[in-house]
Amino acid sequence: MDPRQRLIVALDVSTVAAARKIVAAVGDSAFTYKVGMQLYTAAGPAIVRELVDSGHRVFLDLKYHDIPNTVGAAVREAAQLGTSMLTVHASGGGKMLQAAIDAAQAASPDLLVLAVTVLTSLDDDELGTIGLRGGVQDQVLRLTALALSYGYKGVVTSAREAVALREEFGRDFAIVTPGVRPAGSGHADQARVVTPAEAIAAGASHIVVGRPITEAADPAAEARAILGQLGVEQFPVLSS
Ligand code: C5P
Repeated sequence: MDPRQRLIVALDVSTVAAARKIVAAVGDSAFTYKVGMQLYTAAGPAIVRELVDSGHRVFLDLKYHDIPNTVGAAVREAAQLGTSMLTVHASGGGKMLQAAIDAAQAASPDLLVLAVTVLTSLDDDELGTIGLRGGVQDQVLRLTALALSYGYKGVVTSAREAVALREEFGRDFAIVTPGVRPAGSGHADQARVVTPAEAIAAGASHIVVGRPITEAADPAAEARAILGQLGVEQFPVLSS
């Protein structure tokens, strides 16, 4: 399997020109680009269409979380843009998860709908302030179980929780992991940040990398270095 299927480059910029510059600089060292709320809010669906039309895969990371009818309608629109992956918040509940997966399957059966479990910026204390007392890992396990029960084939979570998810739910679903820093970048010891090899060893199927690639002097070289650090390929990508 081509390791590039596991790498997602986050286009966290505010202009089409900046996004194009990154994509051109990365070249064929990555297949998939993440368009999140910053770029989407600034540049709209045109940037998604442009990336798709130029042969790239788009992960539309807008983390939908609304009533089922609204989320279903938004997923249908995203599918029609040609996105390959998108996110909904698992905490939107079962009816919302159902509406999203139904819309995706109707519009684009290969679209990988990912359930966001717990934002990597939240810790146990902060979860408590929104009424969730069991801690991050419990909540990630609970929301993953919920998403899988609705036929989801992937979740977004930190590498820290990936080990427990593989133990509990097996290997037949994608785990997309942000907060990845190349080995030797000096950030690998920060809380909830892991190296590419650690993420894959923990059970991630895909890693999301933004600034280490997009802000590198040579983004293609940095992407290749990260691909070289991905280590043993254990888990299915489900989205090729
Ligand atoms: O930090 P970096 O630039 O690699 O972030 C890339 C993407 O990963 C961001 O778009 C953000 O959505 C996500 N991220 C995250 N949790 C972190 C760090 C980044 O979800 N701790």
